[in-house]
Amino acid sequence: MRKTAPPRTYRVKSFGCQMNVYDGERMAEMLDEQGITPAAEGEDADLVVLNTCHIREKAAEKVYSDIGRLLKGKETPPLIAVAGCVAQAEGEEIMARAPAVSMVVGPQAYHRLPAMLERAVDGKRSTDTDMPPIAKFDALPRRRKSAPAAFLTVQEGCDKFCTYCVVPYTRGAEISRPFADLVTEADRLVAAGAREITLLGQNVNAWRGEDGKGRPVGLAGLIRELAQLPDLVRIRYTTSHPADMDDALIAAHGEIDKLMPYLHLPVQSGSDRVLKAMNRSHTADSYLKLLDRFRQARPDIALSGDFIVGFPGETEAEFAETLALVDAVGYALAFSFKYSPRPGTPAATMDGQIAGEVMDERLQRLQASLNRDQLAFNEASVGRTCDVLVERKGKFPGQWLGKSPWLQSVHFYGPENAAADSADIAIGDIVRTRLVDAMGNSLAGEII
Ligand code: 5AD
Ligand code: SF4
Repeated sequence: MRKTAPPRTYRVKSFGCQMNVYDGERMAEMLDEQGITPAAEGEDADLVVLNTCHIREKAAEKVYSDIGRLLKGKETPPLIAVAGCVAQAEGEEIMARAPAVSMVVGPQAYHRLPAMLERAVDGKRSTDTDMPPIAKFDALPRRRKSAPAAFLTVQEGCDKFCTYCVVPYTRGAEISRPFADLVTEADRLVAAGAREITLLGQNVNAWRGEDGKGRPVGLAGLIRELAQLPDLVRIRYTTSHPADMDDALIAAHGEIDKLMPYLHLPVQSGSDRVLKAMNRSHTADSYLKLLDRFRQARPDIALSGDFIVGFPGETEAEFAETLALVDAVGYALAFSFKYSPRPGTPAATMDGQIAGEVMDERLQRLQASLNRDQLAFNEASVGRTCDVLVERKGKFPGQWLGKSPWLQSVHFYGPENAAADSADIAIGDIVRTRLVDAMGNSLAGEII
């Protein structure tokens, strides 16, 4: 590679899950510290970080098309770093297939990006996909700015080995960040403007630590501590595994006001045979019973889940069991995917891979049910009064967008319903609102 001038501007593009969004923000902060500034909207950046997702095939393919787009018609292409889970899983392949990429950095090594960048400017390519536990977080800069709704990674990695999933290979074994580090980072996020913090982990409810007095605590203990931060008004957590749920976390939903009435608990399938083949360690019935306990603790809790259709061997009758489970739960929000065979995972070589058309058809039917329930949940919210955390301005003059406690998007107009800048409202405010109209993906509110 040729030597290049040090980059003046950067762009970080994150794909996939919220943990990638968090990682992308941290990489941006590191680049800020190097004196590199974010490229303006619509302008080419000197350095592009593609923070990739490997969870499904389509997500991984995007990397190569994105690289192609970055090079197209450019005399001086940008420096390109591929980060995230595709970098972890296919680092060598990327280096071989895409000579324009000068840095490949895995999700546990991105604190080394500045050093790699120095080499890249010098014309040298480098790959770092080491997985040293936790070192990354210590090496990252202090938090200085934050959106009103911020993410905080508390746990990474996965030991569950669901047979379809690449995460145990790309993100490594489960690790929990220390209690004290998390309290410090949360404190700084709040000082930097966060009013809501979502605690992130691939299995966030597997988080374990020791509190200030050296006593062992789980996620509920951490939430309880963070709820003490006076300017933090909302706490959420995602994503959970049914096997890691404990009584304390269920009880916390009934006891801690700042903990929002929302639970994302993936189930993947409603068929016990499929769940077993997925190595999920729960049944449809044990999952439903678990949800019942959350509902007892917090009757208005909004439930959310993930689904995979067309897992190898899934019969029509087994798929019907998934639809029945959906009917039984009544999800407020859900994410559903066609099964995508991932290289190196046990399910990729199982018998009975399902044809694409069958998966398409099942996904459509599942999404019809899920959309129906989401709309029903939103319609049932009409007439409710709730707090909305204002996250940004809306499309129309005087309009604002925010989230209800149940994670619904709510749009509303400022006082007077007119002025382009309703001076009385600001991003980060908590606004008391009556929900007056429901759509599939959002609600209209009126300030009280
Ligand atoms: N194919 C399709 N969906 C998958 N997910 C994880 N791995 C796969 C795969 N190989 C889905 C699961 C998980 C979500 C993050 O992505 O539903 O909960
Ligand atoms: Fe994608 Fe999973 Fe990696 Fe997140 S952890 S970026 S969803 S593969």
